[in-house]
Amino acid sequence: MTEPAFDDIAACVFDAYGTLFDVHSAVERGGAALGGKAAAVSALWRQKQLEYTWLRSLMGAHADFRQVTEDGLDYALAVHGVEDTALKSRLMELYLTLDAYPDAAGCLEALRAAGLATAILSNGEPEMLGAAVSSAGLSPLFDDVLSVEEAGIFKPDPRTYQLAVDRLQVPAGSICFVSTNAWDAAGAAYFGFRVAWLDRFGQRLEQLPGAPAAVIGGLDELPGLLNRQRNG
Ligand code: LAC
Repeated sequence: MTEPAFDDIAACVFDAYGTLFDVHSAVERGGAALGGKAAAVSALWRQKQLEYTWLRSLMGAHADFRQVTEDGLDYALAVHGVEDTALKSRLMELYLTLDAYPDAAGCLEALRAAGLATAILSNGEPEMLGAAVSSAGLSPLFDDVLSVEEAGIFKPDPRTYQLAVDRLQVPAGSICFVSTNAWDAAGAAYFGFRVAWLDRFGQRLEQLPGAPAAVIGGLDELPGLLNRQRNG
């Protein structure tokens, strides 16, 4: 890699949905009524949720992540011919208590033991984000939980990444940003963070400006990556 190594990192900032939290756990836990359509509904829900963040940002028509999450779910259910208000409410409620990936807590504990600051920077609206963090028991492992709502626009607008620089008082080049979402990894690298792209699902890098400095397969690899660079 020609990108700068992870030396001089003072803080690790994490994307939330897809990175720390399994967005498909809502349908897995509460979507039995969807039967064989469950996986397809969940995938389309996520896809439309993200598309609506980008599109609303371009349109100058911001609505918070709870709204675009609900709109994405409405779209996905309609495509699959599902009309079930109780199911929809249940799935939205489950979004507040998504499963954390099993590698999240151990990673955060190790980073904090190594003296690094830890934070979340997410599209999530503050209340839904706070609910997910606290229901997963991760609250004590973060110095800060930042929502793009403070910027009033979604990632990858640079103003969202700037929130972490301003709040943590750490320059962008000393922040390691971690995201499973390849488009978020590109946006964050283009902004100036040192990015570890978490390739949980064997995806491809996006054809966008902004290259991650490292690719990891699980969060358990992150503390070693940073330590090696710090010591070496
Ligand atoms: C987030 C979305 C991108 O947590 O998953 O910001």
